[in-house]
Amino acid sequence: MDVKIALLETIEVVYNELQALFNDNGFKQANLGAFGDMFYKELDNYLTFGGKRVRPFLVRTAFDAVGGNHEEGNITKASLAIELLHNGSLLHDDVIDKDETRRGRPSFHVIFRDIYSKKKKGSFEKATDFGEAMSIFAGDLCFPYAIESIIQSGFPAEKSLRALHAFTEAFREVIDGVILETGNAILQNGTEASYRKMINLKTGALIRKAVEIGAILGGGSDSQIESLKQYCLGIGTAFQVQDDILGIFGNPEELGKPIGGDVREDKQTILRIHAIKKGSKEQVKRISELMGKEDVTLEELNEIRKIFEETGALNYSFNLIKEATKNAIESLEKAKPPLKEKPKMLLISLAKFLEERKS
Ligand code: IPE
Ligand code: IPE
Ligand code: MG
Repeated sequence: MDVKIALLETIEVVYNELQALFNDNGFKQANLGAFGDMFYKELDNYLTFGGKRVRPFLVRTAFDAVGGNHEEGNITKASLAIELLHNGSLLHDDVIDKDETRRGRPSFHVIFRDIYSKKKKGSFEKATDFGEAMSIFAGDLCFPYAIESIIQSGFPAEKSLRALHAFTEAFREVIDGVILETGNAILQNGTEASYRKMINLKTGALIRKAVEIGAILGGGSDSQIESLKQYCLGIGTAFQVQDDILGIFGNPEELGKPIGGDVREDKQTILRIHAIKKGSKEQVKRISELMGKEDVTLEELNEIRKIFEETGALNYSFNLIKEATKNAIESLEKAKPPLKEKPKMLLISLAKFLEERKS
């Protein structure tokens, strides 16, 4: 099966399972009145529409790759855990990064900032605080529902408990990743080693734990779990490096989120790290002057793009993606007993698909 079709199928089954989870558990049951209804409607929209659903795809495919038994439990329901954790982290991330769009729509905090502005006269700051509070609440709500999705997936208690443990580790690692990333922003110059450590936590954790949860629930061997995790180390690296590239060279319409945020927030992306290492004195000076500026103009963004190209940072990043993808694919062959052929082929196609993604 083509991986694009498999991803589309995941989008559909995840949609159905999310609806079931919310309705069975009463995302809307709590009677909080008119505002509560509005809040939950927006949260429902946020969670059920959009997103590539790469992480649930990984849970489901890892489950099949180790020969998981679909009679034992509902793997799609269990796959919601990591996707909800991912969505919760994005709800918080857009507040932290001050990004106004996500998945082609206004970010959650922007929706509620606008609602506040329409209902109540007050300063823009008050509206902003209100919107941000709502996004923090929304993100927080994702976490109990994520745990609930594993509990309700119906797998034997021992497997569910191990999956829950993998989930809490994922949670902790993502937070460690963003602590590192945010802390790195006050460094003058980051290193590739610190970058790799950070992305391995911030982005890698959810991807790695997705296959781990799938393989645990599918009854995979230690060797199978390890090979799937190694695969994720590769695709996770490729994924975040690609995100860094798209975040400055991408098309915001296609991407569904703004570009230039990493420049404004002076993020230690691999592009910045490499350009600082290889750039001339003048180029390094310009990076330090332009990155972190509140109001970066298009002209200045183009200047940074040019520096990233001229210092070889862009090519270096492309090569990193290629190498990480190759390593990922090779790791899949190391599993004992071998992974099932069809799901393995899907994982290989996914790695190639992510290598070329534009959104
Ligand atoms: C975005 O993840 C955040 C990163 C870790 C780079 P995705 O690109 O998977 O986001 P959605 O879920 O498809 O919108
Ligand atoms: C988002 O990271 C991932 C987490 C918060 C864990 P980024 O800030 O790099 O992703 P985008 O570019 O906003 O999607
Ligand atoms: Mg962000």
